[in-house]
Amino acid sequence: MFAEKHDFLSIADWTRADLLRLLQHSIVLKDQTRAGVCPQPLLGREAALIFHKPSLRTRLSFEVGVRQLGGNAMFITNQEIDLGRRESIADVARVLSRYADLIVIRTYKQSDVEELAHWASAPVINALTDLEHPCQIFCDIMTIYEKLRTVEDMKIAYLGDGNNVARSWMAAAKLLDIDLWIGTRPETHPGRDFQESMLENARGSITITDDPVAAARGADVIYTDVWASMGEKDKADEHARLLESYRLDSRLMQHTAPGCLVMHCLPAERGQEITGEIIDGPNSVVFDQAENRLHGQKSIMLWCLGAA
Ligand code: CP
Ligand code: NVA
Repeated sequence: MFAEKHDFLSIADWTRADLLRLLQHSIVLKDQTRAGVCPQPLLGREAALIFHKPSLRTRLSFEVGVRQLGGNAMFITNQEIDLGRRESIADVARVLSRYADLIVIRTYKQSDVEELAHWASAPVINALTDLEHPCQIFCDIMTIYEKLRTVEDMKIAYLGDGNNVARSWMAAAKLLDIDLWIGTRPETHPGRDFQESMLENARGSITITDDPVAAARGADVIYTDVWASMGEKDKADEHARLLESYRLDSRLMQHTAPGCLVMHCLPAERGQEITGEIIDGPNSVVFDQAENRLHGQKSIMLWCLGAA
């Protein structure tokens, strides 16, 4: 039924043409779902969802998305597989591929996801690692397109911790003609080697500065995320001290372009990386972002199965 397997571990796995085509496909799927005529190409298909970290949006948007496409989702925690300890990643990959047509995984190390993808005959989707959160950023690009009718020729500012979300934005700048600015401290820099590899043959630009105002100035989109990600909550106090001046508040918003979109992947810590006034304010699109996880990930899944 499906032509070939593709893994989706990073936005940089795609070409620009893939990204733009899947963006349009996601919008069609959203319209079809809202009209109650979502196609069911996953009828009789199984997706394994492996989660080693908590999740509201990602887990539910994949579960609901698989179901709306006609398939079935199996939720698996580390209690069942204890990846790499109870048995090797290679064996888990080969066993799961006998039951599931698609594997979605949220875990710590990107290298574990790469190893799983190497051994699995079923396609593997990265649902967040410490390194990247590609599904999030693709669906966020969809939200930007819906609001601004373009996803290029714009300044996108990311303020705060140079984490997985920041790095997936850097991967997006490889494919899209965006002017990406990351405002962060040297201690929370997303990684110079990563930046270099994303800038190789990049279509967009990436500027990393410790000046939050320079990052925010004239931005069409301003984005932030928690200052301490899952798996590194031990750094919460240190990051809170370091990142104080990168908080998205009304003072910083004054420097952005008129109508600047406010984005956050959620969950948020109101009062820390963003004030309640800004995340719940008129420019915020955070719940549209959450909704679009459902639609964007459907086209990611179908692309992985060679069906989009
Ligand atoms: N944004 C996001 O990935 O949320 P969850 O951690 O709830 O899945
Ligand atoms: N950077 C955050 C994103 C959560 C969706 C984390 O990894 O915890």
